[in-house]
Amino acid sequence: MNIILLGPPGAGKGTQARHLVETRNMIQLSTGDMLREAKDSGTEMGKVVADVMARGDLVTDDIVIGLIREKLEGDKAGGFIFDGFPRTLAQADALAELLEATGETLDAVVELRVRDDALVARIVGRSTCANCGEVYHDETKPIPADGKCTNCGGTEFKRRADDNEESLKNRLMEYYKKTSPLLGYYYAKGLLKRVDGLAAMDVVQAAIKAELDG
Ligand code: AP5
Ligand code: ZN
Repeated sequence: MNIILLGPPGAGKGTQARHLVETRNMIQLSTGDMLREAKDSGTEMGKVVADVMARGDLVTDDIVIGLIREKLEGDKAGGFIFDGFPRTLAQADALAELLEATGETLDAVVELRVRDDALVARIVGRSTCANCGEVYHDETKPIPADGKCTNCGGTEFKRRADDNEESLKNRLMEYYKKTSPLLGYYYAKGLLKRVDGLAAMDVVQAAIKAELDG
């Protein structure tokens, strides 16, 4: 099964993708994570995208489509979760072509719906384990009192350069201008499933499961 998790910044795409990886042996393809890895390892591409990402603008379609193309050639396991991709109609068309070329289909597009004011609180409270990428939140999923990641025991946690109110405003603008048209695009294909992303994490997990398993 191949699915897209669609939603504004902070909607919970990464959190829910990690759960699907654990429970369904799926492969998470997060273009945001791939771009941050390129930035952290100082590649040429990483240098190009660093400022764009810090501002909260979208990286060019060519770059992200290239990243996804590479991954689709690898192991497929229980299927792919596209997390943060596609984000433009051009990326959606490219994904359709790439899947068709490999004989794969897209089974569902899950929209995580969260109000804008709740997104700010989610983004400014977020941190992630530097070792395994487990996502925490100061209030809703705090780092354990012993300072160790529940998933890997790591003790280093980081916050993202674009997790501030100013970048978030821009990220939201980009979402409504360029990404939200994908809702109509996938609705027309009969693939859109809508989930209340404002509910507690386990409730969101159950709602996604219900949508995917029918
Ligand atoms: P990307 O990394 O994709 O970021 P994003 O879309 O802004 O989404 P986030 O990672 O911020 O949020 P999320 O929905 O994963 O939420 P999370 O689960 O962490 O992209 C970053 C940048 O890269 C872009 O701005 C762009 O520059 C570039 N880029 C990436 N892909 C691109 C593409 N395809 N094209 C062009 N440019 C691209 O949750 C957030 C917080 O809320 C966490 O603290 C979590 O613990 C908490 N939380 C989650 N669920 C719940 C819940 N149910 N209840 C309470 N708290 C919750
Ligand atoms: Zn960890």
